[in-house]
Amino acid sequence: MEYEVIIPAAGSGTRMGAGKNKLFIELNGRPIILHTLDVFAADRDCSKMIAVIQPKEEKIFKEMTAGREYEGKLEFVYGGAERQHSVYNGLTAVSGEIVLVHDGARPFIRRPVIRQLVREAARSGAAIAAVPVKDTIKKAVRQEVVETIDRSSLWQIQTPQAFRLSILQKAHEWAKAEDYLGTDEASLVEKMGDIPVKIIESDYDNMKITTPEDLYFARAVLEKRTHLNG
Ligand code: C5P
Repeated sequence: MEYEVIIPAAGSGTRMGAGKNKLFIELNGRPIILHTLDVFAADRDCSKMIAVIQPKEEKIFKEMTAGREYEGKLEFVYGGAERQHSVYNGLTAVSGEIVLVHDGARPFIRRPVIRQLVREAARSGAAIAAVPVKDTIKKAVRQEVVETIDRSSLWQIQTPQAFRLSILQKAHEWAKAEDYLGTDEASLVEKMGDIPVKIIESDYDNMKITTPEDLYFARAVLEKRTHLNG
């Protein structure tokens, strides 16, 4: 089933401390963002990739992606101050029935998870990738524990997050009107309250590269995959 994907890539990556957009950091000789784009480029069900970028980085992105076989289905849109604003801008370029939002900083997403997300979003409206929480999670106030949360009900949420376009548009318009800022798309849909958000179990490799130590894990994932494929 066909879908379009919005790829927010307009962050500044301050937590990485690389002095540049972290998506330009190379893994196996290629920028992180190209690893991410390649997954969707190779997926025939993906009809459009909308990369949301900062205007000042447009030239770099265009040079980086020029001549690649997916150029035809890649569009660029300018981002905003927060990730949510970037996704909102990306939505203006979407026209299909199903839309995915996937962080540029998650290069290890796999096609079977994408397929399940698309199917579930078409069926019920909203579906998100996640993995079970491994650690014990406690709630604390001023570094004093107030509660241990039952881990069996906790999920660590990733992207892609998949939606029927009309639902995500409505959620974003609602959030804009209410001045609500969420940390993911699903939280906007949850706030509206009328659409269930389904979880599709993903894998721990689908990490978001955020801080320098994440690069060690990312390189290990790539090495593992090279051995598996080679
Ligand atoms: O900072 P963080 O890693 O959580 O950002 C997740 C994704 O959202 C990254 O790929 C980043 O480039 C993107 N982003 C964006 N616009 C912003 C902030 C982040 O597109 N204003």
